Amino acid sequence: VKVAIVGATGVVGETIVRVLEERRVPVDRLAPFASRSRRGAVCFRGEALDVRETTSDALHEFDVVFFAGGEDASERYVPSLVERGCIVIDNSATYRLRSGVPLVVPEVNADALRPQDRLFPVANCTAIVLCTALAPVRDTAGLRAVRVATYQAASGAGRAGLEELLAGERALAGAEEEPQPVAFARALARNVVPQIGEFDASGYSQEERKVRDETRKMLGLPDVFVSATCVRVPVHTAHSEAVFVETECKTNLDELAAAFDRAPGVNFHRSGVVTPREVEGTDLVHVARLRSEAETGRHFALWAVGDQLRKGAATNAVQILELLLAKGYVR
Ligand SMILES: NC(=O)c1ccc[n+]([C@@H]2O[C@H](COP(=O)([O-])OP(=O)(O)OC[C@H]3O[C@@H](n4cnc5c(N)ncnc54)[C@H](OP(=O)(O)O)[C@@H]3O)[C@@H](O)[C@H]2O)c1
Repeated sequence: VKVAIVGATGVVGETIVRVLEERRVPVDRLAPFASRSRRGAVCFRGEALDVRETTSDALHEFDVVFFAGGEDASERYVPSLVERGCIVIDNSATYRLRSGVPLVVPEVNADALRPQDRLFPVANCTAIVLCTALAPVRDTAGLRAVRVATYQAASGAGRAGLEELLAGERALAGAEEEPQPVAFARALARNVVPQIGEFDASGYSQEERKVRDETRKMLGLPDVFVSATCVRVPVHTAHSEAVFVETECKTNLDELAAAFDRAPGVNFHRSGVVTPREVEGTDLVHVARLRSEAETGRHFALWAVGDQLRKGAATNAVQILELLLAKGYVR
C-alpha cells in the first residue's frame, strides 16, 4: 500500500513511522508530510525521506493517509480524501464522536470496523489506555460506573509540551530562565497541573470530557457513568491512571485477575507496581494494584499505565491498518 503521514515530524507522526517499520507493515511507498518541507528529515527503513508541505492534491495519490497534524489539518484535508475512497486514520479529535464513525481499539471493539468505512479516528490517548484496561472488567461483570484520576505525561501535549518541560527543568537547575507556560496551564517542572484543556460550565476540562465521551463510545456503553480528573505531571512519556470501577454484577479478584491475564493488549502485574518510565516504548497497557474497594463484590480499584505515543496513538493507528489489511478492506 501507498501510505502518507501528515504531521510526520511531530511526536505521534515519528512514532507512526517507527511502528510501521517495526511491525513490518507491507508499505510500498511512504511519504511524510508536515506544515512545511524539510530535506531528509524522516528516516524509514534506513532511508532519509524528504518531508513535503501538506496539500490536498499531494495526498490524493495515496491509499492510506495517517493524520497526526492536529485538528486544523484533519478538518481541512480529511473530507475530500474520504470522498475519494482513501483510508484515513486520524489521531485528532475532530471526527471521533461523529455518529456512524467507528472509534476502534482492536482489543476492545474490533467488530466496530465495517467494510464500507473509510474514516478511522484514533481515540484520545488517555481513553485508549483506560478502555484497554476496562474491557476485561466489562466482559467479566459489566460496568456501571468508572471514576479515574490521570497522571499524564508532558509529551501528550506534543513536541512543544515536552520541550517546555525540559526547559523548565533546566531553569530549575539554574541553567536558564524559566519559560512562561504555553503548552500547559501552569509551569510543569516540579509541579502537577490539574487542568488539560478548557473548563466548561460544569467544571470539567476538555480532556475530561473526551475521556468520558470516548470511553462510552469505545466500550459500547453509552450510559455508563464516567467521571475523570485529568492531571498533567512532569513525566516525559506514558500516561498513568488510578481507576475505580463499579461493576453491574458481583465478581471477585480471582475472576478479574484471570480476565486480565487473558486480555489481549494487557500486561497484568499480580503484585508490585509499574511506573511510566518502565512502560515508555512498549505497546501494552500495564495493569497493576488490582484490589477490592469494598466487600460488595462490585467495587474495585486498579492502576493502569500505557505509552500514550504508542498504544495511545501510533500503535493503535497502525493496528487499525493491520486489521483493515487482514480483512481485505484496503483497496
Ligand atoms: N502527543 C500525544 O501523546 C498524542 C496522543 C494522541 C493523539 N494526539 C494527537 O495527534 C496529533 C499530533 O500530535 P503531536 O503530539 O504529535 O503534535 P506535535 O508533536 O506538535 O506535531 C505536530 C505535527 O503536525 C504538523 N502540522 C501542524 N499543523 C499542520 C498543518 N496545518 N498541516 C500539516 N501538518 C501540520 C507539524 O508539522 P511542522 O513540524 O512542520 O509544524 C508536526 O509534524 C494531534 O491531533 C494530537 O491531539 C497526540
